[in-house]
Amino acid sequence: MFANMLPEVTTDLAGLEEKAAATLSPDALGYIVPSAGSGATARANRAAFDKWQIVPRMLRGSAERDLSCTVLGTDMPAPVLIAPVGVQQLAHPDGELATARAATALGLTYTHSTAATHSFEQVAEASGTGSRWYQLYWPTDRDVCISFLKRAKDSGFTTLVVTLDTGVLGWRPKDLDRGYLPFLVNTGLANYLTDPAFLAGLSKPVEQDPAAATARWIGMFPHVGLAWSDLPFLREHWDGPIVLKGICCVEDARLAVDAGMDGIIVSNHGGRQIDGARGSLDALPAIATAVGGQIAVLFDSGVRTGADLFKALALGADAVLIGRPFLYGLALAGQSGVEQVMRSLLAEFDITLALSGYGSPAELGPSSLLPA
Ligand code: FNR
Repeated sequence: MFANMLPEVTTDLAGLEEKAAATLSPDALGYIVPSAGSGATARANRAAFDKWQIVPRMLRGSAERDLSCTVLGTDMPAPVLIAPVGVQQLAHPDGELATARAATALGLTYTHSTAATHSFEQVAEASGTGSRWYQLYWPTDRDVCISFLKRAKDSGFTTLVVTLDTGVLGWRPKDLDRGYLPFLVNTGLANYLTDPAFLAGLSKPVEQDPAAATARWIGMFPHVGLAWSDLPFLREHWDGPIVLKGICCVEDARLAVDAGMDGIIVSNHGGRQIDGARGSLDALPAIATAVGGQIAVLFDSGVRTGADLFKALALGADAVLIGRPFLYGLALAGQSGVEQVMRSLLAEFDITLALSGYGSPAELGPSSLLPA
């Protein structure tokens, strides 16, 4: 892998942000990097990893390592996925297409955001034979929701990820001060503006009245009113695994099991929604103990290194989603940048496993770590 290293992307995964910051416009930077409010949740996400230390074991005869796994019927070369991230054209003109191509090149699963700058069908074409999941921001309009689920299925997306922590957008001072949200709203509409059910609700073509399209979208975004009793609707319209994203406490994880869900993602949206919330990794062990083995337990928020991956998997995650780091790679070098960031992360994880005496992620467990 090192023969093909791109000079514009660093292998110092923790330092990637600085490099990306130099290429992003101030508006894009203000949207992508910061978190909600004072940034306390994002800091808690990182601090949570420092509370654990890896306990290396020697002379275990693990000459070969196999990182592969199967999660919810999806074969993966390693327990790592690309997290759903909206408006990727902010980072690079190729946006989601570049990310989907990178995922396919590496055999990783790409997760398509509802708030994307490219439609289901465009991304499916770019992704080709690659594995892809779809992330739903649940529209308040039933017909649009059903249409999204159908288009996703028809386009080869196999697992539905339902993001629950974004019923309304978090308080993000950098975006608010820049008056940046209108721009975002208008760019992240590719799935909507290509949707027959969405367009049917407009009295004029979008080109003639773009403000009406924006207003219709704004009307269907807030979904804080959803309840557990709404989940059967998704079962009715989605034939495949369903994963709830944004679960942060044991009680909700148990409710997800009771509701017949196939998996959860322990996540606080990279600290972008609530200011002052618990670190995502702080929430993981108790949740994994409570529901692990019954449903798939995935994890994200704050993962920046191979050692972070090791810790999340040791604390009970079946797989881990990567957010900002791949986006930084995208900003720096498009598809190749995403590939290099993800390859670096996987290589560092593999080396961490090797040096700690493990042959596969499945061997990791609570005894692999000790509290710092
Ligand atoms: C996100 N995230 C996100 N999640 C989601 O379900 N749908 C989305 O459209 C988006 N959009 C989005 C945009 C940007 C710029 C970022 C940084 C994040 C959250 C994402 O899926 C994931 O939960 C976090 O990014 C994980 O945290 P880290 O890895 O960024 O710390």
